[in-house]
Order: sequence, then structure tokens, then C-alpha cells
Amino acid sequence: MIAIDGPGAAGKSTVARLLARRLGTFVFDTGALYRAVTLLALPQGIAPNDAAALTVIANDLDITMAPPTVDDGRQVNVQLGDEDVTWALRTPEIDAAVSEVSAHQGVRAALLPVQRRIADGAAVVMVGRDIGTVVAPDAGTKFYLDASAEERARRRLVDLQRQGVETDFASVLKDLRARDAWDAGRDLSPLRPAEDAIIIHSDGRTAEEIAVEMATIAKERWAALTARGSRA
Ligand code: DC
Repeated sequence: MIAIDGPGAAGKSTVARLLARRLGTFVFDTGALYRAVTLLALPQGIAPNDAAALTVIANDLDITMAPPTVDDGRQVNVQLGDEDVTWALRTPEIDAAVSEVSAHQGVRAALLPVQRRIADGAAVVMVGRDIGTVVAPDAGTKFYLDASAEERARRRLVDLQRQGVETDFASVLKDLRARDAWDAGRDLSPLRPAEDAIIIHSDGRTAEEIAVEMATIAKERWAALTARGSRA
């Protein structure tokens, strides 16, 4: 299992997809779970600070993630029940509310076993904020992918414009900084690198370069573990 943690829009999902392709594993982007809870809550008028109602939604979450079946730039198919919500999870409304939603203890407790079940023994690249620290502290290889707020805002702006969302650099940067503050400042599982994580900065580097570096490290680790195992 490979864990990739880091702040929003650092390029984790893109790098994870390229890495998984090289290693022949699949990607589990755990942010989709928190986004799905938010997507279900907002139309019901449930506020991002309503911990009790959000916890109920998280406990009942009927989410499926599978390899993409539509060629529209998506990295994964996400369904809630029978409904394809892949792009609905990525709107600015969800971006604005999801960090607060994800800070509630009840929501995190409900989603933890879902993540552990999928991670258990599987050849998977898991992407999130607390994979190396909380969800899978035993992960064989842990990466923490970082980038400056400006670089991340530039990337997020391109993503949003591709989706046809009208916005500008200044407001994307402001939103990202607000999410960073939530993710790193919350009491529960705050965003931080695991002690044994390898920290990689993605400023000025392509996703492909980073995926190649990660694949090399992961393979070396795997070889070392196998060698140690065979001597034991
Ligand atoms: O990676 P993302 O932007 O899709 O994540 C959405 C939110 O979910 C993010 O603001 C923090 C939260 N999150 C989390 O708390 N723990 C995770 N493992 C993944 C995401």
C-alpha cells in the first residue's frame, strides 16, 4: 500500500493515477468520501457545522468507486446509489464546504472503517490527508506531496476553467488558503506529514516526473522488504 497525503490541489490524484498505472495497482482517492457527504448534505439544507446530521449521512453513505467508464477527463467513476456524481463532487460549492464537513469527529469515525476495508491487503495507492498518519500508519511507502499555495491555485484554476466554472486566480487562492487552514488546524487527524513520510515538492515539476520518482522509491522499498522477508 502506498499512501499519498498533502494539501488540496498539490497534484496528488494526478500523480497517484500515473503511479498506479506504472505499478499496476488502483487508486483510492479518499477525499471523494468527504465530498460525497457534503454533496448529500447541502441540498437538504444541512449546514457544514451540523455535526450530528452530517454523521448520520456519513454512516449511511452508499458510495461506489470504480475505474472510469467515460472518457471526459475523470480519473474514477464515483456513484452514490445509482447516480454518477463524479463531477458533482468537484464544484466550488463542495470545495467551499467540504473541509469544515471533514473536521467533525463523527464524520471521520464513520468514514475510517470504509477506508480501512478498501485498503486492507490491497495493492492500492491511497490519496488523502491522514492516510500515512491515521488510516494506514503501516503503509509500506508514504509520500507527502506538497506545493506552494500559488502553484496549487494555478492548477486548481485550470481544472475549474476546464469544467466551465467562471472564477479567477485571486479567489481560487483565497479558497485554497481557507481550506488549508481547516485541514491543518483541525483537532482530529490534522494535515501533516507522517514521521516516516517522504516529502516531495511538486512546484515546477510535471506529474509524470514525480510519478517516476515515486515508482522508483516504492519498488526499492518493496525489493528491500522482500529481501528481508526471504532472509528471515
Ligand atoms: O483531496 P480533496 O480535495 O478531494 O479532499 C476534500 C476534503 O476532504 C479536504 O478538505 C479534507 C478532507 N479529507 C480529509 O480530511 N481526509 C482525507 N483522508 C481526505 C480528504
